[in-house]
Amino acid sequence: MTRRAVITGCGSFLPEKILTNDDLAKMVDTNDAWIRERTGIKERHIASEGELTSDLAIEAAKKALAVAGRDAADIDLIVVATTTPDLTFPSTAAVVQAKLGAGVGAAFDIQAVCTGFIYALSTAEKFIASGQHQNALVIGAETFSRILDWEDRATCVLFGDGAGAFVLEGRDEKDADGRGVMNSYLRCDGTMVDLLYVDGGVSSTQSTGHVRMQGNRVFREAITRISEAIECVVADAGVHVDDIDWFVPHQANERIIKGVVKKLSLRENQVVSTIAGQGNTSAASIPLAWCAGVDDGRIKKGDLVLIEGMGGGLTWGAALMRA
Ligand code: UT7
Repeated sequence: MTRRAVITGCGSFLPEKILTNDDLAKMVDTNDAWIRERTGIKERHIASEGELTSDLAIEAAKKALAVAGRDAADIDLIVVATTTPDLTFPSTAAVVQAKLGAGVGAAFDIQAVCTGFIYALSTAEKFIASGQHQNALVIGAETFSRILDWEDRATCVLFGDGAGAFVLEGRDEKDADGRGVMNSYLRCDGTMVDLLYVDGGVSSTQSTGHVRMQGNRVFREAITRISEAIECVVADAGVHVDDIDWFVPHQANERIIKGVVKKLSLRENQVVSTIAGQGNTSAASIPLAWCAGVDDGRIKKGDLVLIEGMGGGLTWGAALMRA
């Protein structure tokens, strides 16, 4: 019997503290007009001292569980996509499991930077499809502000903190009404590691390091690779881009999103965008945007939704699902 992984709840959380473009202009040589025109970002949320990635993840997870009508004890799989874990080990997923009081199932982190949520969703879907796990929490959570160089205007204006979570439940195909994750496409090309990376790590420097990016080179790669991922995932599912109800992209740059929309003849009014108020929250940006689309009534049960992401690695990917 084929098992489908159906999204039965989503939840999101943003730290209270807001950093505006004008605030940043007091810290580095930048200005509101440059940031808005080049990226679409107006402000971002920043975790306060002592507010950890797991804290954001737990708040998002609690909301997703409430929407799904599930108790934490029902969860037998937790996958957290993050580049900014609380600790080098154990995983943030282990911390989340304990703090939530979730069932003792599998729990682990996935590290694919801004593509992390697509990698995590695809992994959890396969665990559920195998029949070995029934109820999963898939979380994208970041305190990206902790790895920014606040003197580097080329990167510090781009990112923010936040978390988003899905509850995925296994259903027999005949009971799923066509809902659930349909397919996904994941890629990595490690030869482009120097385009976007952190200049520190456990084994190399025994420090955390800071984000370094050749922004315009990443920008050029982004539109090509995201478009390739979307074309493959759509063709694999046997649907057409015209069939897609909502496009929930990774929120790195409004110009990248518009470039992809134009290249693939999607419609601007299909895009769920949160970039203006959140910036790039790395692995959290897709579930944060998804939740915004659900909360304001755009994404409804049964809608065909496309997600995509691209980030350090370089990694990139896309997934299609019926909400
Ligand atoms: O989520 C992970 C994937 N990340 C991405 O997809 C990010 C992809 N890249 C981008 O979004 C864009 O490349 C950026 C927004 C990072 C930069 O935009 P750009 O249009 O590619 O600008 P640029 O890097 O080519 O820089 C243009 C100019 C430079 O000055 P000169 O050399 O022309 O004098 C930069 O020094 O803008 C300058 N600049 C800034 N000026 C004001 C760079 N950062 C800033 C800043 N404020 N914050």
